[in-house]
Amino acid sequence: PEEGLRDGYGRAIRYLRVSVTDRCNLRCRYCMPEDGVDWMDHSNLLSYEQIARLVGLFAKLGVEKVRLTGGEPLVRRDLHRLAAAVSGTPGIREVAVTTNGVLLAEQLPGLVAAGLTGVNMSLDTLDREQFAAITRRDQLPAALAGLEAALAVPGLKVKLNCVPMGENDSQLVPLAALARDRELSVRFIELMPIGLGGSLPRRTEAEVLERLEKAFGPAQPCAQDQGGGPGRYVTFSGFRGRVGFISAMTHRFCDRCNRVRLTSSGFLKTCLQYDRGVELKPLLDAGAEDGDILAAIRRAIGEKPAGHHFAGPAAQGDEARNMSQIGG
Ligand code: GTP
Ligand code: 5AD
Ligand code: SF4
Repeated sequence: PEEGLRDGYGRAIRYLRVSVTDRCNLRCRYCMPEDGVDWMDHSNLLSYEQIARLVGLFAKLGVEKVRLTGGEPLVRRDLHRLAAAVSGTPGIREVAVTTNGVLLAEQLPGLVAAGLTGVNMSLDTLDREQFAAITRRDQLPAALAGLEAALAVPGLKVKLNCVPMGENDSQLVPLAALARDRELSVRFIELMPIGLGGSLPRRTEAEVLERLEKAFGPAQPCAQDQGGGPGRYVTFSGFRGRVGFISAMTHRFCDRCNRVRLTSSGFLKTCLQYDRGVELKPLLDAGAEDGDILAAIRRAIGEKPAGHHFAGPAAQGDEARNMSQIGG
């Protein structure tokens, strides 16, 4: 690979998040309106072949990790085919998925055979009624079956994502307790003002940590992830796993940002908060040469914004997409 493609602030881009669909089988309140959204027409989606070609080009530019997201990535047909193509790309060392887990139990064997190295699963509550209220679908048993399936795969990195939103206050300690009993990371994510996330109550890292320390005693330092992601981890006495925080509101981690995003329609999005980047699908559809696509990618990454301004007022150029269209 060309060593270290860097953005205009000197940050090396090593991680590509690929949204494979804007569709989802749940309707989480902070992510999608009750009635769903107007799904994108299939003809506007990147094909798996197009995604695989782009991953190959990003790998040439130094990307080593790819995360498949959605919407819900497992609702797109034969995701294992894409996972296999991505994991077979020279230079790509990690292929992970971020999922709600509902379809995971049935699809995990195929994905693992295709080279999947990690699963991040969204789970905001362990209470069935509350799950149905937050996601507007009564699918907790399926999600838990997905989690068990993931935990049963040797060597698979498993992380749970919980967005504390007031309603699930009673669940923060029970969710964290999963990391006491099982080999996984449980992460609490400060709600970000993207799409519907701007209109719900949020809990800060400090508020969540206070509850956890009351239940488990003082938080202790522990090993952090390599690769510079936004999650910061602690552990508690007697825990097998870790508890993490992704706190975009409380901390600013943008100065070590290492990622860009590709939407399901082929927009290369250089920062979560802005509508900044480049449409790559027209180039692919028109049969552009690798060199032209690489140049477009380089140009867009060169203009990656310094970071978010979640704490300030909305501004022109801010992202108007919902989280379901970005992939988190
Ligand atoms: P790891 O690679 O396992 O660390 O996962 P991840 O945190 O990068 O991915 P995941 O899909 O599990 O996302 C968890 C939360 O982190 C979501 O709410 C994402 O929106 C958020 N997140 C991921 N990357 C960024 C980022 O660069 N900036 C901000 N502000 N949030 C991010
Ligand atoms: N703020 C923070 N996290 C969010 N997610 C979805 N919307 C938001 C938001 N507004 C989380 C989901 C999922 C991850 C990809 O992003 O819970 O775990
Ligand atoms: Fe990176 Fe933008 Fe997220 Fe900051 S907000 S960490 S710059 S993607």
